[in-house]
Amino acid sequence: MAIEIIATGRAIPPKRLTNDDLADRLDTSDEWIRSHTGIGARHMVDEGVVTSDLALEAARNALAMAAERMGVSGEALAQSLDVIVLGTTTPDYYGVPATACIVQNKLGARNAAAMDVTAACTGFIYGLETAAGLLTLNRSRKRALVIGAEVLSRLIDWNDRGTAVLFGDGAGAVLIERTEASGDGRVRRGLLRTVLEADGSGAESLMIRRGGGRYPYREGEAAESPRVEMDGRLVYNFAVKALTGTVEKLLAAEGLAIDDVARIIPHQANARIIQAAGKRLGIPESKFFLNIEEYANTSAASIPIALDELNRAGELKPGDLIMTIGFGGGLTYGGNLIIWQ
Ligand code: COA
Repeated sequence: MAIEIIATGRAIPPKRLTNDDLADRLDTSDEWIRSHTGIGARHMVDEGVVTSDLALEAARNALAMAAERMGVSGEALAQSLDVIVLGTTTPDYYGVPATACIVQNKLGARNAAAMDVTAACTGFIYGLETAAGLLTLNRSRKRALVIGAEVLSRLIDWNDRGTAVLFGDGAGAVLIERTEASGDGRVRRGLLRTVLEADGSGAESLMIRRGGGRYPYREGEAAESPRVEMDGRLVYNFAVKALTGTVEKLLAAEGLAIDDVARIIPHQANARIIQAAGKRLGIPESKFFLNIEEYANTSAASIPIALDELNRAGELKPGDLIMTIGFGGGLTYGGNLIIWQ
C-alpha cells in the first residue's frame, strides 16, 4: 500500500503588492524587506474574497489535473473524495463551521468527511499526515484532498511594519490516493515518512490573541480586530533550529543522506531562515526551492503552492525523493519525505 500525490493545484489572487507599494504607506523600503527576508512582492485578495474561495479554486485545479488523466469529469472525481483536510490560520469563521466544510459543499464532494487543521505554517505537513492516516486506517476510504489556504491580509495589522511586510494570500492543494503500488513491499512510493512536532511553550511568540475564548467579545467594550502578533527574533531562531532538526530527523529515520534528496521544499517564511539552515547543514542553496520573492509567506499554503509550481513546470520527476519542511505558530514544525509518483 502507498499514499501517493496524484495531482496538485494552486490559487493566487491576481492583485499584487510590491515592496515599493508598501513603502508608500509604511516606514519601510524595498531594500530592507529584500535584504532581511528575500520578499519582493505578495498577492492579496479583493474585498469579499475569503479563504474558502482560494481553497476551492486550488482544489478544482488539482481535481481537473487528475480528471484529465483519468478521463473523468472534475465533478465526478469530487464526488469520489472520501476526505478533505484543510490547513489554515485564517478560516472563514472561527471554530464553526470548518472552512473545509464550505469547500466540500461548493465542490459537490458530498461523500467526503471535511475538517480543518490548525497548525499555522505547518498546516500542510500536519494535514497531509492526517489525511494519509485516515486513508490508511479504513480501507473503504481511497481519496483525499489536502489543502493549505490563507487570506493573511485580513489578519495583519497594516500599521505594524514588523509583520505587514511578511505575509501574502494564496492556496495550494494536493489530491492523494491510497494505491497498491508497493503491495509487494519492494517498491516504495508516495509518502514515506512524516515527522510532526510541537513546542507549546512558544505559543505566545506567534499568535492571533483576540477572537477566541481568552479574549472574548464583551458587551459595551470596544472590540479590537484580531491580528497577527509576533516576536520576530524569537521565531527566527526557532525556525532555523526547527528546519535544521527536521531535515536531520527525516534523513536519520530513513537511513538516507542529503544527496538522496532531489529537492527540499521548505515553508517560505524568510529566505534568510532557509539560507542559515542550509549553511548549518552543509546543504547547497540550490537544493531548496524558493518562491518567497513573489508570494511572501502564505503560511499553510506555501508548501502546496510550491509543489504545484514545481509539478506543473515538470521539475518533479517520477522517483524523485522530495522533502517538505514546515514550521510556524504553535509552535509547530515537521516535514514529509515523499517519493514523487
Ligand atoms: N522595514 C524597515 N525596518 C524594519 C522593518 C521593516 N519592515 N521591520 C523592522 N524594522 C527595523 C526594526 O524596527 C529595528 O530597528 P531598530 O534597530 O531601529 O530598533 C531593525 O529593523 C531591526 O529589527 P529586528 O526585528 O531586529 O530585525 P531582524 O533582523 O530580526 O528581522 C524579521 C526581522 C521579522 C525579518 C525577522 O526577525 C524574521 O524573519 N523573523 C521570523 C519571522 C517569520 O518568519 N515568521 C513566520 C514564521 S512561520
